[in-house]
Amino acid sequence: MEKENTDIENTGKENTDNESAGKEDAGRENSRKDITILAVESSCDETAAAVVRNGREVLSNIISSQIDLHTLYGGVVPEIASRKHTERINQVIGEALQKAGRTLGEMDAIAVTYGPGLVGALLVGVSAAKAISFAAGIPLVGVHHIEGHISANYIDNKELKPPFVCLVVSGGHSHLVRVKDYGEYEILGRTRDDAAGEAFDKVARAIGLGYPGGPKIDRVAKEGDPDAIPFPRAKVADSVYDFSFSGLKSAVLNYLNSCEMKGIAIRQADVAASFQKAVVDVLTEHSMQAVEECGAKKFAIAGGVASNTALRAALEKECAARGIAFYRPTPILCTDNAAMIGAAAYYEFCKGVRHGYDLNAIPNLKLGERA
Ligand code: KG4
Ligand code: ZN
Repeated sequence: MEKENTDIENTGKENTDNESAGKEDAGRENSRKDITILAVESSCDETAAAVVRNGREVLSNIISSQIDLHTLYGGVVPEIASRKHTERINQVIGEALQKAGRTLGEMDAIAVTYGPGLVGALLVGVSAAKAISFAAGIPLVGVHHIEGHISANYIDNKELKPPFVCLVVSGGHSHLVRVKDYGEYEILGRTRDDAAGEAFDKVARAIGLGYPGGPKIDRVAKEGDPDAIPFPRAKVADSVYDFSFSGLKSAVLNYLNSCEMKGIAIRQADVAASFQKAVVDVLTEHSMQAVEECGAKKFAIAGGVASNTALRAALEKECAARGIAFYRPTPILCTDNAAMIGAAAYYEFCKGVRHGYDLNAIPNLKLGERA
């Protein structure tokens, strides 16, 4: 990573070219108010591109989902994901510019997710963004996928500014984070095993709902009794904020096995509702504890599981009871998209962050780490 206007020696031809593109841009940047960013996201199974103005205004948000393809296999197949990203990325980027009514020449920067995620999938977006940055002479800004999820809140809530506490719950991550400033995070808690979305997906598969599990459990649970089966609410002994969902998943599997052995018919909706309630209870309790102990006045949620209707309702109620402002992105901005990457990139760009053409995909990038 480079900072604008810093002296960098021997960065190689590509870096130097990009750096000068960045410096030229700094000149242009000073002479106009709006910053428009073309953002690319390909970390998992959505090929996405968006054009975002000033981090908050979405001019276009194109998402090409591969869900139907992966449903055949019961989960994301990394090789298929990479191949499909390669096939679709140029078209998706072109469509994002077209829908926004903008040309590449009007972009102030190109932003791309470089981690965490599937390495082959990430590489497609990173390579495309580097090529466009070089060809169009616009700066490259690498973005952390989870920072993107958190920043989705800035799009739908124009007044939201740090500090706030954020619960990030997706297919690969469950984090309770204190957002101290734009791009500055303190991780309060994390999952010790499965992510919340992963638990939804595994339980959905076990009760015959298929992939992706979260939205399906959400829908079926509406017909079920959340108190029908007393599934456990796991606590992690040495941390009040950490999560553990693998025990809950095992409890569901044990329940299903014991019903089968006893010849008892399973009520799919009751299992879905009771499992979902167990997840929602734990996420809500830990979140409210964090809000109270941090003395936070604002609380936000992010990530695919943040689109869960029961979770949104529970957190809204608990925040209202405590006089805490509750923020959540619209469901389409909770799951993977590139608008959220454009939002996060804006704050990085304004801080002077520019990446060189040595930017690589980092599948295990930790929140707060920078390339
Ligand atoms: O953020 P995301 O799109 O991708 C990752 O970064 O992982 O999250 C995908 C996860 C999947 O596990 C999916 O089952 C879950 O979010 N999800 C949901 C809902 N919609 C998506 N989980 C519960 N309820 C939902 N409505
Ligand atoms: Zn995600």
